[in-house]
Amino acid sequence: MKVIDKIVEMKQFIYSVKEKGQSLGFVPTMGYLHEGHRALIKEAKKHNDVVAVSVFVNPLQFNQSSDLEQYPRDFLRDENILTNDGVDVVFYPSVDEMYPNELSIEMNVVKRTNVLCGSSRPGHFEGVVTVLTKLFNIVQPDQVYFGSKDAQQVAVVDALIHDLNFDIRLNPVSTVREKDGLALSSRNVNLTTSERTEASEIFQSLLKGQEYILNNPNWERHQVIEIIKNYLDEHTTGKVDYVDCLSFPNLLDDIDKNHDIIIAVAIYYQKARLIDNLILNHNGFIKYGSE
Ligand code: PAJ
Repeated sequence: MKVIDKIVEMKQFIYSVKEKGQSLGFVPTMGYLHEGHRALIKEAKKHNDVVAVSVFVNPLQFNQSSDLEQYPRDFLRDENILTNDGVDVVFYPSVDEMYPNELSIEMNVVKRTNVLCGSSRPGHFEGVVTVLTKLFNIVQPDQVYFGSKDAQQVAVVDALIHDLNFDIRLNPVSTVREKDGLALSSRNVNLTTSERTEASEIFQSLLKGQEYILNNPNWERHQVIEIIKNYLDEHTTGKVDYVDCLSFPNLLDDIDKNHDIIIAVAIYYQKARLIDNLILNHNGFIKYGSE
């Protein structure tokens, strides 16, 4: 596997891939890889001749410096995983390489971000679309792979690709979970032992919401939210950031019967903020969200 930390070298490598007429799948990450990332890589390998992964903790998308500092990093470990998984190239740039000067252009995401993580993390999705625009221009992938664990990110990337005419196919991949249901996340290592035990209740709370929808054809949005909130109040010491039920991928609270929906939760523990969701059709059957 090639490890490349310079943009010019990455562009040269990509040029040689394109010259051979090979298809290119791309998985952007912030590293500290786990089975969730590996599921995206596996999917990319299935459908492309060459697979590129980026490992870059993007400072622009962190709205709290403590969160950026606490973000776990271990590139040697990541490199081993990526080599074993048969990845062809990893792009591992420094912050200076990606942001040599203060940016003159700012991106502004005006739809799909006034809810969920967009409202509780101001500037987050602007940082995500900025780094992805740069990465898409450098890597020029045919297909990209994103986890539906970050469902709002999938919705925003979908808009980015369409609005800015990237010739890229977006593939959402179902959330990979621990045996007890906790969605895998690089942030899980920042949980205390007791928080880790409780954190499985996040998925259970979503299942309670889903159960209510499945059993009540005329379900109401505010009831879904209340059921999940009540369950979380009783079963976890974490502080609820949000619980919501919206249309997907438009992320509107005016839910049409023909639309898919997302039920989503974010919880603060002492040193980690965890998110999870289920994407369901209107009758409550899972579309994405669980492996
Ligand atoms: P990161 O949090 O490292 O996640 C990289 C990709 O892995 C994302 O598409 C995320 O949805 C996916 N992923 C994380 N946990 C998962 C799980 N349990 N199951 C399936 N997929 C999972 O998301 C980012 O990085 C950044 O915002 C990035 C897109 C790289 C831009 O900086």
